Amino acid sequence: MSRPLTRPLHQAAQLGRYAWSLQHEQAAQWWAGRVRGDLLARAHLREGRRDPYPVYEALRARGDLVPTRLGNLVTTSHAVTGEVLRSRRFGVVPLDPVDAPAAASGADLSFLQLDPPDHTRLRRLAAPAFSPRMMASYEAMVQARVGALLDAAAARGRFDLVADLAAPLPVGVISTMMGVDDADAAALQRYGAALASALDGVASLRHLREVMGAATALEAQFAGLVERRRTDPQDDLVSVLVCELGEGEGAALSAGEILPMCTLLLVAGFETTVNLIGSAVLALQRDPDQWRALVADPSLASAAVEETLRWDPPVHETARVAHEDVELAGTTVRRGQWVVTLLAATGRDPRVYADPARFDLHRTPGAQHLAFSSGIHYCVGASLARLEATVALRELAVRMPDLRVDGRVVRRPTTTIRGPLRVPVAVGGGAAPYGGVVRA
Ligand code: HEM
Repeated sequence: MSRPLTRPLHQAAQLGRYAWSLQHEQAAQWWAGRVRGDLLARAHLREGRRDPYPVYEALRARGDLVPTRLGNLVTTSHAVTGEVLRSRRFGVVPLDPVDAPAAASGADLSFLQLDPPDHTRLRRLAAPAFSPRMMASYEAMVQARVGALLDAAAARGRFDLVADLAAPLPVGVISTMMGVDDADAAALQRYGAALASALDGVASLRHLREVMGAATALEAQFAGLVERRRTDPQDDLVSVLVCELGEGEGAALSAGEILPMCTLLLVAGFETTVNLIGSAVLALQRDPDQWRALVADPSLASAAVEETLRWDPPVHETARVAHEDVELAGTTVRRGQWVVTLLAATGRDPRVYADPARFDLHRTPGAQHLAFSSGIHYCVGASLARLEATVALRELAVRMPDLRVDGRVVRRPTTTIRGPLRVPVAVGGGAAPYGGVVRA
């Protein structure tokens, strides 16, 4: 059974290495979507990139578990997705090595792409840096960074919400946590953005070269940092990882595992949170009542973050492969078959959320959304993402109550990772809040 065309976000870290295979997949996707009418493939073509939700609803109408033209299955159901993600009978490592992204690329995919026991061993090393105690210690730093970014933006009157707030905030925070100098953080942001730009395919040879160059440069930058921390450890995450380095049986972390892990933590940390902040502001500005409600009560910022994660999350899908035959939603999923779980569609499952297509800050909390996945791969950085986005929204509402979208919004040309690329805003009053169509 062939691996689904789509991949979860964080594989962006390895995209430089298998960009060619992505280009091949792009062609297959076009064929499946356009010629064979495959709905999952259509979600990744132009119409889906602009607005994938109608495609998800068409899939939902076909049932809880729908076969794709490539021999896999796809689900929009909240219950089925939760079951798959939490089941130990599914995994992320393909049964057929030829089908593995790692085999295609020769790359180490770090723990996002590993099953236990390696997944457990590596995740355990990174997780403590994201504990509630550590989050509390980062709060002042996040607040200070948001304040500085908004001061600079306010002085200009008009700014790009993505370039001037949503993008620099997470990269700055994760760089500080990892021990990357501010001076290097800007370069890391460029490399990470280049990797993420290839998520739904590489457009040209030039694009391919850019992506590969970014992957190499990112790794070189981390290799330098690891070397410095070996001799001069500091109070940061890379120093913690360096302490665990060893070789042979019993070593927690090998030399070959540390760089992919650094890259994963970096790229996972900002290519998602940027979209959460951007999408939240767009959702609030689409409906003037919602923005005004936040301005009137900025403590609603965390509710706005959760509602955005349900309604239009940054990561739209992931996938699991059956490691044995599994009965699921009345169907037998065969060993080796992939199930694509449409996380974004589960947030609009009408059996779980009333009036699911409506963005509502005052929604009564119900079932937990699956925007951060579930089970053993549940997002390590969920609390950090929530903290950054909540502080950003709260400060925007307090400092810029008359904020309005002022220009053409441009979306990222990808479906797996969804969010705006450019959101021009004005700080002062004037025209009514944005209510128009987001341009792809
Ligand atoms: C809004 C922001 C974010 C979203 C929507 C998000 C989403 C996700 C999702 C859906 C997964 C699981 C994929 C799967 O099950 O296949 C995941 C895993 C992961 N995320 Fe996030 N993420 C966000 C922010 C972050 C941040 C800030 C960090 C860290 C700095 C981070 C680090 C990770 C890591 C390391 C994993 C792998 C976990 C594992 O495999 O055990 N993420 N994330």
